[in-house]
Amino acid sequence: MEKSIPVHVSAIMDGNGRWAQRQGKERVNGHVEGVRRVRECVEQCIARGVRYFSVYAFSEENWNRPAAEVGFLMQLMHKSIFDEMESLLANGVRFRVLGNMERIAPELREAIAQLESMTASNDRLDLIVFLSYSGRWDILQAARRIALERPQDAASLTMEDFSSYLVTAGIPDPDLIIRTSGEQRISNYLLWQGAYSEFYFTDTLWPDFGREELDRALDSYASRDRRYGKVK
Ligand code: IPE
Ligand code: IPE
Ligand code: MG
Repeated sequence: MEKSIPVHVSAIMDGNGRWAQRQGKERVNGHVEGVRRVRECVEQCIARGVRYFSVYAFSEENWNRPAAEVGFLMQLMHKSIFDEMESLLANGVRFRVLGNMERIAPELREAIAQLESMTASNDRLDLIVFLSYSGRWDILQAARRIALERPQDAASLTMEDFSSYLVTAGIPDPDLIIRTSGEQRISNYLLWQGAYSEFYFTDTLWPDFGREELDRALDSYASRDRRYGKVK
């Protein structure tokens, strides 16, 4: 029997700092290594037939980290856009960034918009980077826009209507959410969209999460029984 492959796999990439510290390096080295694992996972997702791969790269709460680390992460994002451009294009990957873009520096926003438009017609895999994102922020911005744009529909609004105001509009909900580094919490990630996601927790730190690790998560997913509240 064909193993069931998730349409949308998402990763809460955690443990970069600990990975670096365990090797006696600065935390930021873990972030650099972490980007390499994103590329590897993108390639493995394509090989395994996953259609959407998303990563939690920077939460709204992460703005509260020391300014030097925040600055480094934003620069790394900027640099990675240039470094990964070619491989994304060659692999037919559509690149998108979702989050509270008002807090992102204009130069980075510009680079993001450029890569988004360059890859807009690619349809092999969507790589979605959640940046300056939080689940509660997403739900709140949707509610505010609905209140402003269609106050007359308040009573008749459907789940689908509401979903279409989230930043993930048009993207299927994640089937599988992976969290690395041994933490077992959602950390304000896809609160609405993850309502029926399967979770996979591993002690592996994100910079060590390569192809084989992703395969293990996919195997675990294939063994799950998704009942959605029904009786089987
Ligand atoms: C995840 O690694 C990356 C971000 C949250 C930006 P961390 O930086 O959280 O690494 P740990 O959890 O401190 O080891
Ligand atoms: C969650 O990691 C956010 C991202 C991976 C971007 P954190 O390391 O920030 O989460 P907490 O603080 O341990 O919950
Ligand atoms: Mg962490």
